Amino acid sequence: MTRFFAVAFLLLLAVPARAEDGYDLWLRYRPMEANAQAQYRPLATAIVSEGTSPSLNAARDELTRGLSGLLDRPVGTGAVAEGAVVIGTPANSPLIAGLKLPLAKLGKEGYLIRSTSLNGHAVTVIASNSDIGVLYGSFAFLRLIQTCQPADRLDIASAPRIKLRLLNHWDNLDRTIERGYAGQSIFDWQKMPDYMDPRYTVMARANASVGINGISVNNVSADVWMLSSLYMDKLAALADVLRPYGIRVYVAARFSAPIELGKLKTADPADPQVAAWWKKEIDGIYRRIPDFGGFVVKANSEGQPGPRDYNRTQAEGANVIADALAPHGGIVFWRAFVYSEKDPTDRAKQAYNEFKPLDGKFRDNVFVQTKNGAIDFQPREPVHPMFGAMPKTNLALEVQLTKEYLGQTTHLVYLPVLFKEVLDWDTMAKGKGSTVAKVIDGSLEGHDQSAMVGVSNIGVDRNWTGAQFSQADWYGFGRLAWDLDASAEQIAREWLGMTFTNDPVFVNQIVPMMIASREAVVDYMTPLGLHHQFASSHHYGPGPWVSDLPRPEQNPVYFNRADAKGLGFDRTPSGSGATSQYAPPIARLFAGSDIPDRDLLWFQHIAWDHKMRSGRSLWDELIVHYDTGIATVRQMRRTWAAMKPYVDDERWSQTAAFLAIQEKEAQWWRDACIAYFQTFSRMPMPAGHAPPPHDLAYYRAIYFPYVPGAASRNKPKDPVE
Ligand code: GCU
Repeated sequence: MTRFFAVAFLLLLAVPARAEDGYDLWLRYRPMEANAQAQYRPLATAIVSEGTSPSLNAARDELTRGLSGLLDRPVGTGAVAEGAVVIGTPANSPLIAGLKLPLAKLGKEGYLIRSTSLNGHAVTVIASNSDIGVLYGSFAFLRLIQTCQPADRLDIASAPRIKLRLLNHWDNLDRTIERGYAGQSIFDWQKMPDYMDPRYTVMARANASVGINGISVNNVSADVWMLSSLYMDKLAALADVLRPYGIRVYVAARFSAPIELGKLKTADPADPQVAAWWKKEIDGIYRRIPDFGGFVVKANSEGQPGPRDYNRTQAEGANVIADALAPHGGIVFWRAFVYSEKDPTDRAKQAYNEFKPLDGKFRDNVFVQTKNGAIDFQPREPVHPMFGAMPKTNLALEVQLTKEYLGQTTHLVYLPVLFKEVLDWDTMAKGKGSTVAKVIDGSLEGHDQSAMVGVSNIGVDRNWTGAQFSQADWYGFGRLAWDLDASAEQIAREWLGMTFTNDPVFVNQIVPMMIASREAVVDYMTPLGLHHQFASSHHYGPGPWVSDLPRPEQNPVYFNRADAKGLGFDRTPSGSGATSQYAPPIARLFAGSDIPDRDLLWFQHIAWDHKMRSGRSLWDELIVHYDTGIATVRQMRRTWAAMKPYVDDERWSQTAAFLAIQEKEAQWWRDACIAYFQTFSRMPMPAGHAPPPHDLAYYRAIYFPYVPGAASRNKPKDPVE
């Protein structure tokens, strides 16, 4: 017996106090250090919620969960007393109504957090005009405590800059995910509506905590089944779960649904029967889901059906659906990612060419959803020329959280740096200061609508995003969509504090590591404006030599244009003329000799021996960039290695292993690209830079039959031993 207890005791000791696998995201609520608890306990003694509604209850429950965890003692609901946290709206809380708070300017979703006194007691009030605003304020209050900010003299007013803050899931109904690197789709449609996985609620909490207020649930290359009543019943159940958290559901609709589902002969948007079908279909959706958000549509892109099939414009296609949604307040996100294999025009120009003449032709409830760049979510792209060029159209910015072209699961690349670069970019459309942020928040052209969309990176992996640090991209996307002025540093700091620790030694090392990670990936994959140098189909690893894809504008050689003379795509007026799609000062910059190095090969074909700003030749400069990228990753590894004392074993080890993969693959990228480009430059390696250890044939032979997330599930090549 004694022996049994002794063994049991030893076993208990061996179990770590609390396993951390990333499941709790940034909502961990682990007990704070004792002195921090002592500081915050008097400020959060009980929660006072006079009203009751699903969203208010979610706010109350989150505060209970969060404060009880962080302060390591139960914090329940109660009456007004010293240190109470009073939550509500003037409509549902007489206490809050009595305070006559300045809520008018905060709109529907904004919140106010204020330290004040009620009945002679010092309290904190979290108030809003809506229950969902109260939930947002509650998460903000928790964030203050989680990140050890002062919480005793608060007067914080916050409202979102962007109205529609959406994730697009590219999830297929069979639970595979296009470009998904975190396991299967979270949406277990087969078991819905009878079984609703509790993860949906956790996801909703995480989304609400950063202000995301809509999700589209299925792949943009859409399966028409999603619109069937079988799936609509499931979607209605999902909408019920998400509604208390302020999240509306949207669906990616297939343009040819009137044919496939409606059994009509055509999907021609000008056909009255087609218009009537969309109306009937959409009325039916709203009967099931009264707050349904609307549709995302990928039309005439990569094989998807669209209005062009009937010689109609993109606007005619969007408007027929928008008209049916309008009476219900629904929105169409009509994607601008349109290019054709039949059109020999530079792919970078095609969307602008097609959409710009349609400016002003789209209904008010249509957003033209435009990727940040004109090609496809590259490590760096010049901003899409449509930003600033469509003054009479609602433009939504689409960014990709899933890292299709940025190393997928295992490369640590902190994306808010990229998002900020895009938002702060000056289109010059109406003179200096016409930033993308002002285009998309509607302020530049006086639109009331605004939207920002992130292609989701989540799946059923325990840590949700495949890698711990990819959670920061989800977090950062939401925080930025709410507050376009937040800095990438600030967001990293918050996220690290909530996800790992607020210890300044840790945070002060890891924030710069995260910030540097974005330039690193540009350097080791596609420096100086190179783009789309990826292996075919799955986009995992380098393939600058690829030239055999049937569609020319998908081949890396189409983009790099390497030849004996030099490297880069001539998009100046003497080349494809894509530079002319920008506002005149930008067009001149990109076409001239002042072009920034970082955009050079995107817009110009440059001789191998061209003298760069640094004084080096283009060839040497390219190699210096590749090697700088690898050096940064090496430094990231060293930094992370020193952080072992600050991070639990599981999350530390996974990140360390992934960084090792990243270094190996950065080297692979560099070596493969140099081996290929050297066949054209015929120049020697610059002093101090080692040649690739293998010949080009070696890199070309690297082949992976099954990479997760690949769009086309092609039969792999015959196996080799
Ligand atoms: C990229 C990606 C596709 C995706 C497409 C889109 O091309 O590789 O998988 O479908 O973007 O945004 O529609």
